[in-house]
Amino acid sequence: MPDIPVVYVLNGPNLNLLGTREPEIYGHATLADVQALCEAAAEGATVVFRQTNHEGELIDWVQEAQTSASALVLNPAAYGHTSIALLDALKALTIPVVECHLSNPMAREAFRHTSYVSLAATGIVSGFGAQSYDLAVKAALRLVQERRSAATV
Ligand code: DQA
Repeated sequence: MPDIPVVYVLNGPNLNLLGTREPEIYGHATLADVQALCEAAAEGATVVFRQTNHEGELIDWVQEAQTSASALVLNPAAYGHTSIALLDALKALTIPVVECHLSNPMAREAFRHTSYVSLAATGIVSGFGAQSYDLAVKAALRLVQERRSAATV
């Protein structure tokens, strides 16, 4: 694991449309704004920030995170509610995983109340709009720090 923590921030389908997509639910921040927010939250740690509309590509990146990242922040978007393949990829990880949502899916339609990703996540941040990412990156770095201190005692 590199000395400077590396946080992968991976985003699933339709999040490229942030800023114009249902702004009453997801807010007005664009994905570029969210990336800037994550980089600021990381305070010197490296952020690898990506978005895809393709399930297989997201799974490839989750697999890559195991060897290239210290922690993963994942907004799976709708794949969180549908993808057992994504869950299986997450279950293979030993790094901390923070599930992140702009909205609070539990306060929305019933089909959003199931999250396969939650079964493999260390924790969840949801409902704070773009600020969910700020909190998620900070939580991920805290988890990395805790693991490092536990490993040195
Ligand atoms: C979302 C919530 C999901 O239910 C939805 O499918 C998304 C975005 C969020 O960030 O609030 O695309 O993950």
